Amino acid sequence: MPDALAPYLDEPVRFAYWVSNLSGGQVVSQIEQRTSWDFDYNVKLARAAEKAGFDFALSATRFVGGYRADGQHEASTFAMSLLNATERLNVIVAIMTGFWHPAVVAKIGATADHISKGRWHLNIVSGWFKHEFDVLGVPWLDHDERYRRSTEFIKVLKGIWTEDELTFHGDYYNIDRWHLNPKPTFKPHPLIFQGGSSTAARRMAAEHSDWYFTNGGSVEELRSQALQVKTGAAGFGRRLRVGANAFIIARDTEAEAREVHAEILAKADPAAVAGFAEAVKQAGQATRDGVGNWAKSTAADLVQPNDGFKTNLIGSPEQVALRILELKRNGIDLVLAGFLHFHEEVDYFGRRVLPLVRELEAEAARRAPVLA
Ligand SMILES: Cc1cc2nc3c(=O)[nH]c(=O)nc-3n(C[C@H](O)[C@H](O)[C@H](O)COP(=O)(O)O)c2cc1C
Repeated sequence: MPDALAPYLDEPVRFAYWVSNLSGGQVVSQIEQRTSWDFDYNVKLARAAEKAGFDFALSATRFVGGYRADGQHEASTFAMSLLNATERLNVIVAIMTGFWHPAVVAKIGATADHISKGRWHLNIVSGWFKHEFDVLGVPWLDHDERYRRSTEFIKVLKGIWTEDELTFHGDYYNIDRWHLNPKPTFKPHPLIFQGGSSTAARRMAAEHSDWYFTNGGSVEELRSQALQVKTGAAGFGRRLRVGANAFIIARDTEAEAREVHAEILAKADPAAVAGFAEAVKQAGQATRDGVGNWAKSTAADLVQPNDGFKTNLIGSPEQVALRILELKRNGIDLVLAGFLHFHEEVDYFGRRVLPLVRELEAEAARRAPVLA
């Protein structure tokens, strides 16, 4: 076990789910998806997820329809309302850095933190969908510059949240002796997640973020990312946790689960998938080293836009639980889940899979206690 992964093993795996604020469901397929993107459905879902044992919900940002049906609820408004409708669930809000000023986000975050009693967190997203920026006239920076701006955004956020008064002069933001009151109650500041797996994303995560979110992948792919970013963070004397996307299909038998996966693929929308494959060329694969999300995705992978099938949480409850433990041993601290029928499957996951994960974790701890 390489050292960089060992310090995290005594923690329980965390679970997050995608808030259903974007229309079209989680897969680009004509298969029936008993999931709605309206608010009432999402309130029920958030309460069910909280009861099932999910720690986090992730509210995504999108302004322009593309590979999925056209229609999206705004991430931060939705998140705040879900926080008000729940008691323990933490909600992570996606913030596209080019669309916001960090002081506005810091202020919204501080207030949301007070209202929710420390359950508001954020996911810094740097942008891959050029068309969305073009339509709204937001300047589109080249790939690594988008990360330079996001890095500055995070520095400003942390400065505002933790320093009594902030003065900051950078390439993108200038703050002159600004004082935020109240500060967030969650210390040292709300959790900073980030999405993306390019070299620039990995560098930003190692030095600045609390959580590194990446697309789905094989155990080997995910392990190599986790090792790299956690080793990088250790070099800065920091802890960095890793969350991986997974489209979970847990059914009573493996055969049933595989059948659902096959039906999703058989009913996929090839034109929409091809359009998405074209759009994501602006992500990590546009950089000199070609590393990043979607860089090696096939058309079948992209039927779940965040490569969720690759993580292979498809099978019986026992198989899925064992696989989650394998991910944990390989550096994954959180599984970000998408489902076909969110409400019913979140409930099934909580009853049938999560207790097995906790049993397996307890068993692993008995066999090989992690030394403090
Ligand atoms: C878990 C996760 C959530 C993301 N959420 C969003 C989002 O809500 N909106 C968005 O435009 N991009 C989102 N992204 C995309 C990333 O921010 C990033 O632009 C993309 O992964 C390409 O990054 P890379 O070039 O560093 O690999 C998300 C990515 C991940 C892994």
